[in-house]
Amino acid sequence: MKDRRKDFIKEFIKLASIDSTNRYALDYGKPFAAVTAEKQEAGRGRRGHQWYSPEGNLYLTITLPGMDTRYTVLAGVAAREAIADILPTEEPLIKWPNDILIRGRKVAGILCESRASITAVGIGVNINQIEWPEELAGKAGSLKLFSGRCHAIGDVADLIIGSIEKWYGKLTDMGFEPIKEYFLKYHIKSDYKPMLPDGTGITIRDIDPDGFLMIEANGIERTLINEELFFSGYTGL
Ligand code: BTN
Repeated sequence: MKDRRKDFIKEFIKLASIDSTNRYALDYGKPFAAVTAEKQEAGRGRRGHQWYSPEGNLYLTITLPGMDTRYTVLAGVAAREAIADILPTEEPLIKWPNDILIRGRKVAGILCESRASITAVGIGVNINQIEWPEELAGKAGSLKLFSGRCHAIGDVADLIIGSIEKWYGKLTDMGFEPIKEYFLKYHIKSDYKPMLPDGTGITIRDIDPDGFLMIEANGIERTLINEELFFSGYTGL
């Protein structure tokens, strides 16, 4: 089998414990590195949240060159595809911007952070965990929760790296269109109704060439840049 890491990932750094693989990767500072840790002491989530990071799950950061706002969509697509390969009887869905849900439970979260000329694409996948603290119970899920068996964390990391490589290659060769199509195909649709923080119901129209969501609210189309999106009926994370 082709060793993808040799072609795509130039440096693979495996840590037992770290504050955050994103922080480590940003300090490392070179593109095409992968950093994993068995656990994180200060895992970073989106919107300043902490990412609960005990042993048994995947904490992976891949560095890509430049500061490209499309990476956040690319990473969601790549993670969704890898997880769907592992759990072929489930239908993992993406929740904007890039959460991966199975049966309404969040199994993976992604945080892209940029510094200087690289972006750290941080992916957390719940793998073998089946119990969560009270505030996450019923909202978080894991691969094991849905398959009923343990999964090798390294194999999941390899699959996700392979998927990131594939979609990064598509971005380079064909542009953003294939990523956008995949994203819109697997974005949560009728299950939950998207709305703005003030409760205004919206319709998702498209993703613009920079990877931002295009919505229609009150009959007016516009691009969502830094605003959050909520989903009515969704009580998960
Ligand atoms: C989210 O809030 O949904 C994003 C969570 C991202 C967590 C991952 S775990 C690996 C990487 N290192 C971090 O500190 N965060 C990301």
